[in-house]
Amino acid sequence: MILPGATLGILGGGQLGQMFTLAARRMGYGVWVLDPDPDCPAAAVADRHLCAPYDDFSALALLADHCAAVTAEFENVPASAMIYLEARIPVRPGSTALAIAQDRVREKTFFQDLGLEVAPFALLRQEDDVELVARKLSFPAILKTTRFGYDGKGQQNVTTASELPAAWASLNTPEAILESRIKLVQEFSVVLARSVEGMMVFYPLAENRHHHAVLDLSIVPARIPEALQNQARQSAACIAEALNYVGVLAVEFFVEEEGRLLVNEMAPRPHNSGHYTIDACVSSQFDQQVRALCGLSLADIRLLSPVVMMNLLGDLWEEGGPDWQKLFQHPQIKVHLYGKKEARPGRKMGHVNALSSDAERALAVLETLRQDWNWPR
Ligand SMILES: Nc1ncnc2c1ncn2[C@@H]1O[C@H](COP(=O)(O)OP(=O)(O)O)[C@@H](O)[C@H]1O
Ligand SMILES: [Mg+2]
Repeated sequence: MILPGATLGILGGGQLGQMFTLAARRMGYGVWVLDPDPDCPAAAVADRHLCAPYDDFSALALLADHCAAVTAEFENVPASAMIYLEARIPVRPGSTALAIAQDRVREKTFFQDLGLEVAPFALLRQEDDVELVARKLSFPAILKTTRFGYDGKGQQNVTTASELPAAWASLNTPEAILESRIKLVQEFSVVLARSVEGMMVFYPLAENRHHHAVLDLSIVPARIPEALQNQARQSAACIAEALNYVGVLAVEFFVEEEGRLLVNEMAPRPHNSGHYTIDACVSSQFDQQVRALCGLSLADIRLLSPVVMMNLLGDLWEEGGPDWQKLFQHPQIKVHLYGKKEARPGRKMGHVNALSSDAERALAVLETLRQDWNWPR
């Protein structure tokens, strides 16, 4: 067990790294962050910011020498860095989970091997015949890079097979997957934590709404039939067990028209759709990440209030920034801003959690705010 007073390391200092750092420091741990961006959000709250690339071995050596354990805020840490650290200190979750999550083909194949259903897909590589690949699938479809995609980045809509060559050329990537577009009824996610001893806790499911492939709202409690919720928890547990996972794991699900459940993707870390836990649960997903990393018992995940989380995107900053007065008029809304210096359209600048006696009321509060801000969706 790693106890308060020890120093923890994190690879990546974005908002997820920042919220991990705040949770760890509140619990009495020191935190060192490795991130190449001098202005990364976690730098402002960490004990030390190692400003270096993720494969800088002198920075990794410093981290290994000074930290009792290391985690990551994102899945795209180079494998060489993970292997280097794993030989020296506990790294949770480990390199296997990250390697699978950073590659859409490996990830989908891994789910299928566990007997879980995914959207129909086909691999497209440079040497492949585009027309042949197009014949394997039904359209409309989405072309996605196998690596480094997030918030809909590295994705192209492909309405018909004839659009595929142009979409493939514009992605300019060595490898992509072509995925049939599912008629979605709902999207939701399961965030779980698994301890060193293999104990698991599941946060209440979040019903997720996206706008242009970026998470917009997470609604909790999710309005999803109990049987589907159970199936999703079982699937997520099966993934965590297969990886002998330690840490916080998020799994995204699609519900198809006929009520069929598909696994979309996983994130080997806290997830945007779990930010509601900061204000609405006994312990947040970041508290849990600290506990799992340190080999401690997991905390209570109980929901204290219905809640809706809304992301604040850089779009809101286009004309001088959001009208904060209008936001602070709502006493039910809790504000989280990451301190990012530069706002760009689509960039996640912060989020808010609206708490109310039921999710519909919380949604209505955010709808009012959106109207006040003239930020329709
Ligand atoms: N096959 C699909 N059918 C329908 N919608 C999809 C499909 N794939 C992705 N989407 C939509 O785009 C969003 C982002 O895609 P996702 O594969 O999760 O990539 P990212 O890594 O950018 O989160 C999903 O949450 C969903 O709303
Ligand atoms: Mg996603």
